[in-house]
Amino acid sequence: MSIYILGIESSCDDTSASVLRDNVLLSNVIASQKVHQKFGGVVPELASRAHQQNIIPVIDTAIKEANIRKNQISAIAFTRGPGLLGSLLVGTSFAKAFALSLGIPLIEVDHLQGHILAHFVQYPNAPQKTPEFPFLCLTVSGGHTQISIVRDYFKMEVVGSTIDDAAGEAFDKSAKILGLPYPGGPLIDKYAKEGNPLAFKFSEAHLPELDFSFSGLKTSFLYFVRDKLKENPSFIEANLPDLCASIQQAIVHSLIEKVLKATHKYQIKTIAVAGGVSANSSLRSSLIKLGETNDLEVFIPSFEFTTDNAAMIAIAGYYKYLLGEFSTQEIRPYTRQKS
Ligand code: KG4
Ligand code: ZN
Repeated sequence: MSIYILGIESSCDDTSASVLRDNVLLSNVIASQKVHQKFGGVVPELASRAHQQNIIPVIDTAIKEANIRKNQISAIAFTRGPGLLGSLLVGTSFAKAFALSLGIPLIEVDHLQGHILAHFVQYPNAPQKTPEFPFLCLTVSGGHTQISIVRDYFKMEVVGSTIDDAAGEAFDKSAKILGLPYPGGPLIDKYAKEGNPLAFKFSEAHLPELDFSFSGLKTSFLYFVRDKLKENPSFIEANLPDLCASIQQAIVHSLIEKVLKATHKYQIKTIAVAGGVSANSSLRSSLIKLGETNDLEVFIPSFEFTTDNAAMIAIAGYYKYLLGEFSTQEIRPYTRQKS
């Protein structure tokens, strides 16, 4: 008999719901919140209010698109954390109430494990190759940057992480310096396509081992732009593609360098990338190139599974369902990453 999992994601500024039949995607509905654009970042109070408005229509649409009835759902998986407390509370409360009313199990999912497990979602009638354990996963999002050894669905060991900003933050803060709206990562990616990545050089951090640091790079970019604007107030407009391509190159280079180091250190030849920044075209092509030149098998997610989505929560829920790992109605969200 098939298992139907409803996944709910509400950790930051995307409200999403997805239905899987076993590991196969039936629907993945995402409502992104535009309200934050003019503030240059996510405003937590506005995010939780928008989740409250979006959650019922998003879940309703996901169930309708999956072409199932709600009493066919076997269990509800939801993001427990990490994320913004108010945002997480909306998804958690809805998941608890819906599971209670349907009399079905509730499954908590860690957002970062969800990003990684998105690699195991299958499309109907189009079998995808999935990474074999153990593999290395670079998880790069707005809040996290880390390399993990993934030994099994829920056995993941973080072997390197950022000591300050996340890669997504580095993109978003650089975009803000250039006067671009939030989230700036996709815009940097877009303008960079027309620019020269070698036009400008910014100082990258070189931490030992597998940790990352992006705050020095951001400061170097900020001072560079500030000094150039003193000489020429139109400097940004005149050089936008080159500025975007150069800062993107520096961020991507720092990520790739550590991934390669990790493959040598742990002698693991399968690598995957996850999280919002894995939508970046330069990171995607650099990882493919890295794989070709170093004989590595590389897994890049479909675009719809890069930024926050509920399919990744539903697939993690599916594997927990198989293990019988259910939560109680007493469960509460957590805001920071579990160590
Ligand atoms: O995983 P995600 O949707 O949310 C978090 O869990 O944080 O990641 C969002 C981050 C933002 O910082 C956004 O700017 C970045 O992913 N991002 C990108 C691109 N698309 C999204 N960064 C660079 N290039 C992109 N194409
Ligand atoms: Zn995320």
